[in-house]
Amino acid sequence: MEKVSVGLLGFGTVGTGVVRLLTKNKERLQERAGCEINLEKVLVRNKNRARKVLIDNRTLTTDVYEILDNPEINVIIELIGGVDLAYRYILRALKNKKNVITANKDLMASYGEELLLEARANHCDLYYEASVAGGIPILRTLTDSLAADQIQKMIGIVNGTTNYILSKMSGEGLSYEKALASAQRLGFAEADPTSDVEGLDAARKMVILSHLAYSIPVRLDDVKIKGITDVTREDIIFAKKLGYTIKLVGISEVNNGDIDVRVEPTLLTDGHPLATVENENNAIYVYSAALGETMYYGAGAGEGPTAVSVVSDLISVVRNISLGITGNHIFLPKKELHARKDNL
Ligand code: NDP
Ligand code: HSE
Repeated sequence: MEKVSVGLLGFGTVGTGVVRLLTKNKERLQERAGCEINLEKVLVRNKNRARKVLIDNRTLTTDVYEILDNPEINVIIELIGGVDLAYRYILRALKNKKNVITANKDLMASYGEELLLEARANHCDLYYEASVAGGIPILRTLTDSLAADQIQKMIGIVNGTTNYILSKMSGEGLSYEKALASAQRLGFAEADPTSDVEGLDAARKMVILSHLAYSIPVRLDDVKIKGITDVTREDIIFAKKLGYTIKLVGISEVNNGDIDVRVEPTLLTDGHPLATVENENNAIYVYSAALGETMYYGAGAGEGPTAVSVVSDLISVVRNISLGITGNHIFLPKKELHARKDNL
């Protein structure tokens, strides 16, 4: 194989980072993937909008079918966000036997199982490393590095926007509103930041992590969710005086064969490793039976870090195409899931 052609859906914060990496690291990527990676088309809403990175205007399109139904394109990268359109586009891409990469946790938390099964049925890849914790390779860690172990519990700061807001309210005394506006300017927040501040984005990520850690489906409706909108500067100052830091934390644990997942503002003692995670950084603590405690830390949002996860997924997919294999982070079929649950 000499060349793989990519169609990119979305050219916002993460899409820009992907184009930057594909351009800047072109030769290194070609070396690592084993063939040339060619960005064929980029879907946008408005072709005339000023862009942060130089791109040939002929690459831009507002017609998604120029990408989804293009026989030259082997891989689709979905970065438009939201559920309905993204679901339709990814489904169509998979049915057209195109490999898919997405950073869309809204979609994967609700329809991940269905889309992964569709990918499997079409002998395609569906990779989604960037959907949880931005640049931290946590999905690969759960499915590959820890595959031999039994994961029992995960505690994570998995939303960059809320961690950034709480850090700025605490460290620099910024108001909630100013800190949120800054997170939006920096590209960490969702298009509608309600899902960040209300804890829904973190809950979606904990659902994806739980699926992969325990091979048992967890529904978003079963997650107890509380965001940070009620946390005041006075709460933060009072907690500090008592030796605590307030963080929005996601917890997922197996108790007597049941999985308990919750997201809530939590008081962490100042010496706790998660208490030192500042700004848009994320961290996930994993407890597994044989290995014990491990922690994964790094940038959880933003253009560059998230693009690294997306483009690394792309390299994996290109390698798989060359080898004629697929390597999805697959959820096991339901029958096996119940059997596994009984055995936990
Ligand atoms: P942005 O809002 O910055 O960008 C979205 C892009 O998609 C824009 O280029 C927009 O076009 C395009 N777009 C949206 N809707 C349509 C449509 N109907 N038709 C055509 N184009 C459309 O989002 P982000 O880059 O921040 O996020 C993308 C995805 O990555 C989301 O799923 C998000 O949750 C996820 N993610 C984001 C992270 C981050 O730090 N930002 C980190 C991890 C995951 P136009 O430019 O013309 O407006
Ligand atoms: N809005 C998300 C966050 C982006 O702040 O964590 C990364 O998934």
